[in-house]
Amino acid sequence: MSQTTRDRHEPIGVGVIGVGRMGAQHAENLTGAVVGAKLVAIADPDEAAGRRVGDALAVQAVYTDYKQLLARDDVDAVVIAAPADTREEMIEACVAAGKHMLCEKPVAHDLPAARRVRRLLENAAVTYQLGFMRRFDPSYVHAYRLIRQGAIGKPVFIRLISRDAEGPPVEFVGGSGGLFVDSSVHDFDLARWLMGAEVERVYALGGTFIYPEYAEHGDIDVGAVSLSFTNGAIGVHDNARHSGYGYDIRTEVLGTEGAIQIGYLNANSVVLLKKGHGNYDYVPDFLARFADAYRLELQHFIDCLQSGRRPAVGVEDGERALEIADAARASLASGLPVPVKTQHPVGAMDAEPKGTGAS
Ligand SMILES: NC(=O)c1ccc[n+]([C@@H]2O[C@H](COP(=O)([O-])OP(=O)(O)OC[C@H]3O[C@@H](n4cnc5c(N)ncnc54)[C@H](O)[C@@H]3O)[C@@H](O)[C@H]2O)c1
Repeated sequence: MSQTTRDRHEPIGVGVIGVGRMGAQHAENLTGAVVGAKLVAIADPDEAAGRRVGDALAVQAVYTDYKQLLARDDVDAVVIAAPADTREEMIEACVAAGKHMLCEKPVAHDLPAARRVRRLLENAAVTYQLGFMRRFDPSYVHAYRLIRQGAIGKPVFIRLISRDAEGPPVEFVGGSGGLFVDSSVHDFDLARWLMGAEVERVYALGGTFIYPEYAEHGDIDVGAVSLSFTNGAIGVHDNARHSGYGYDIRTEVLGTEGAIQIGYLNANSVVLLKKGHGNYDYVPDFLARFADAYRLELQHFIDCLQSGRRPAVGVEDGERALEIADAARASLASGLPVPVKTQHPVGAMDAEPKGTGAS
């Protein structure tokens, strides 16, 4: 039953497809942290994983086939957090079943699939939100507003650092689309959102230094991408699957009248001071660093479903980020700068997450 035919005060029934690292967190957020939503079903072909999360969250309806979840009348919307190479098929099934979607990034595992997804969603009668949760992180939202208010003058340079503490297992890498598609898409999206301009050209370098097994899938574990923007601004992004210390996401925007730094290294605001040295603990992983953002993006999704508003982050944003990732991969392969080719210009850069706890 769709929400429009239900009592407006009834919570929106949500199913989670894929309950690995990310999906389990979304499922937990749907059991109390997000107002107006109720977790009603889980699907994962890994029966033990589905059962573990189902038992922990007291959800009876646990399936190994996501199509059984989609067949339920009490599922109004789904969160898709299965591997990227299953995404297109699942989105198609959700559109056919009339289920709204919050989909994890990337839109799909490659650009052609992402473009097919965008075309499919163009005429669909369901709502789609992409999981670029950094746009809901209170610090990034604050920085975005300061930049738009002119606090640093005209933004001219952006530096984006992305480092995981540990790389994912090689089995994940195979279906992920690779470092630029799987991970750097977050930074490519931040780059266009914070700078208020599109990326028009990239030059990429990279290598496999820490996990030689990634090369079997044609992937790298350390990469760097220089960016030039349509308004003449420039930027640099670097990404590593293994930092050797902790989870490290930092961004800096330099403007004509100052700079803004976003992000931090320490998990707690505690510094241990000893003779000759001091230290603090590091942010361990994305679940810790972006806990608020994951909750707020889901709240935004539910608020949009209840109010009929369009989510602030759409499939076009994901397609744009993948266009940049695709150009970066081409540049890495050719050793040359590569223009970013777009099929679908959008004016989404000024879209600001509204109705979230960050507003
Ligand atoms: N937004 C973020 O910060 C963020 C962080 C991590 C991962 N992700 C994204 O989330 C997705 C999942 O990543 P992860 O790290 O949780 O991976 P994971 O390997 O930990 O979990 C994926 C889960 O999906 C399940 N799965 C596989 N095929 C399925 C199918 N056909 N139907 C239902 N479930 C299926 C697997 O059994 C597994 O439990 C990826 O697209 C990844 O890029 C996003």
